[in-house]
Amino acid sequence: MIHARGLARTFAGRGRGKEKEEVTAVAGVDIDVDEGEIVGFLGPNGAGKTTTLRMLTTLLKPTAGTATVAGYDVATQSQEVRRSIGYVSQSGSTSPEARAGEEIMDHGMLYGISQKQAEARGRELFEQLDLDGLWNREPRAMSGGQRRRLDIAMGLVHDPTLVFLDEPTTGLDPQARANLWTHISDLRVRLGSTVFLTTHYLDEADVLCDRILVIDHGSIVASDTPDALKRQISGDLVELVVSDPAQAPAAAALLERIADTDVETDATSVSARVRGAGREIPGLIRALDAASIALESIEVRRPTLDDVFLTLTGRSLREDA
Ligand SMILES: Nc1ncnc2c1ncn2[C@@H]1O[C@H](COP(=O)(O)OP(=O)(O)OP(=O)(O)O)[C@@H](O)[C@H]1O
Ligand SMILES: [Mg+2]
Repeated sequence: MIHARGLARTFAGRGRGKEKEEVTAVAGVDIDVDEGEIVGFLGPNGAGKTTTLRMLTTLLKPTAGTATVAGYDVATQSQEVRRSIGYVSQSGSTSPEARAGEEIMDHGMLYGISQKQAEARGRELFEQLDLDGLWNREPRAMSGGQRRRLDIAMGLVHDPTLVFLDEPTTGLDPQARANLWTHISDLRVRLGSTVFLTTHYLDEADVLCDRILVIDHGSIVASDTPDALKRQISGDLVELVVSDPAQAPAAAALLERIADTDVETDATSVSARVRGAGREIPGLIRALDAASIALESIEVRRPTLDDVFLTLTGRSLREDA
């Protein structure tokens, strides 16, 4: 459904001393998305997510590389590409003064569905996205979360089989986010739709996506299923908190025997990654007991996508979000 090769975009900017300076927003990416896949595009602020999406949706010309979307070339068949997709931009696209329902219907008709269909589908989306009663409201008189859901309804009103969503859930409350996840999954069940979405939320990507692409500084640094990405991190994180700080070095020495990474020590807490922690922990506890080391707590945490991100980019996604 989506095939990009060496897709790149640089922007002309100005350096501090007003000399010309090029900003590489996207540094030549290859992307392949199959029909019916839900793919998450993850990366910290400024990584190049929106720029990539804007090239794939024909809103921005690539400086290098090629891409086909729904079988059409983004450079030479932009009309056909646009007709084949739904797009919800990061900044939203509703005009503040039109009435919400009219905007939805206009948008649907622009994509070639009849007024009647557009109204029926629009009202259905309003109900599903918890926008009941707002059909005649102007977007400027809506809350941020309501406006965001209206953007999403606009992007989906013509039942597109390929949807691009740029941070659809940023600013939504947890219930509205979960609601949208259900909606996106349903879209695939009902229509076999392909979904390409950007997000800062790893839990979202984890729940929703078949595959995750991680972009950092304009380059793709990983592409795999959420589970496979998490398996790349070797071992579960084991953290011991000792009651007496004087015993921390002794506890660290015992943990080191089963650890696959360096042991980190911090006052009373000692931690390391341990492969097959479930098997190793009982022996560790016996050894701690035999050495009369008293514990406040012991915690074992499976790798999260955030750990993956940290390993790949040296930064935490959450810090940026
Ligand atoms: N029109 C533009 N002119 C100059 N630089 C730009 C322009 N658009 C984007 N950039 C730069 O390109 C880089 C990538 O921006 P982009 O919007 O694609 O990031 P992003 O991954 O979507 O980030 P965010 O998570 O903040 O939305 C940034 O350094 C940004 O400043
Ligand atoms: Mg963006």
